[in-house]
Amino acid sequence: MNIIIHEPVMIKEAIKALNIRKNFIYVDATFGLGGYSRKILETKGCNLIALDRDPDVKKFSTSFKKSYKNRFQFILGTFGSLKNILKDKKIENINGGIVADLGMSNLQIEDGKRGFSIKNFGPLDMRMSKTGVSAEHVVNFFKENELSDILWKYGEEYKSRKIAKRIVYERKKKKISTTHDLANLVKGVKSNKKPYRIHPATKTFQALRIFVNNELEELKNFISDSINLLTPGARLVLITFHSLEDRLVKSAFNKVCKKNQTTNRHLPSSDQKIEPKFERVGKSFYFPSSIEVAKNPKARSAKLRVIERVSL
Ligand SMILES: C[S@@+](CC[C@H](N)C(=O)[O-])C[C@H]1O[C@@H](n2cnc3c(N)ncnc32)[C@H](O)[C@@H]1O
Repeated sequence: MNIIIHEPVMIKEAIKALNIRKNFIYVDATFGLGGYSRKILETKGCNLIALDRDPDVKKFSTSFKKSYKNRFQFILGTFGSLKNILKDKKIENINGGIVADLGMSNLQIEDGKRGFSIKNFGPLDMRMSKTGVSAEHVVNFFKENELSDILWKYGEEYKSRKIAKRIVYERKKKKISTTHDLANLVKGVKSNKKPYRIHPATKTFQALRIFVNNELEELKNFISDSINLLTPGARLVLITFHSLEDRLVKSAFNKVCKKNQTTNRHLPSSDQKIEPKFERVGKSFYFPSSIEVAKNPKARSAKLRVIERVSL
């Protein structure tokens, strides 16, 4: 049996940013293999709710429950529904902080059967929750223009139209059902004299994964729920891995940290500024150290952003 190790990215920075305090409640919205959760729980007396949408990670939470008893609970669910998930548990707000590490877990990438990886042979699945429409369905049944839109919107793939056209051509002859079927097809379309720095199908795989898992909508809802849940002094710490995610986080954080203009024209202009409810903590974002990137190249695109609620 292969032992899967996941090296948590920017863990030191994330834990510091969360400002963990005894008796306060925290949420790890992306439990994965529990690297962040374990570190959070090392602070004696704090409480943690861990969430993940992937049923395969549930087994890793059992040992946490044994060690940390009532201080820890695991919930299988999507962070885009955080507010409702917590409401079901009679939790209306979070006074400590919320963290999400938005990368892929090695458990998912290394398991060929999950279909996330270009490198590992397997069915074209890509569903983190193991439910809903798979990447295979999208590739074999979506219309050409829908496919090219997905590749452009979620992968910023400049050959989106050509790839979509080739997919539709090839699938008439034979179903595209494995990771290698798709990777080779895209490689054929993008064949280039210059060697590629990354595999030519990387953007196609990213786009399909984002679409299949509704990742950007999930993230939008999650940020909005988190902002509503946090009480003064509590923090939201997000680690992103690509520009589409990071743009979304940056713009949401800018919005809540900005002094708002009121529309009340009867007030003198000096009174029209509403103080922001959140403040950025430290720099506007943090990168992993060069030492971390050298040890774990998957960290190279990570960016950490953190805000704190300062008033109700
Ligand atoms: C990079 S891993 C987290 C690794 C974790 N920080 C650790 O140290 O082991 C990301 C995890 O987030 C989960 N995930 C992704 N999108 C999610 C969502 N919308 N709701 C809940 N979990 C999600 C994935 O299933 C995956 O297990």
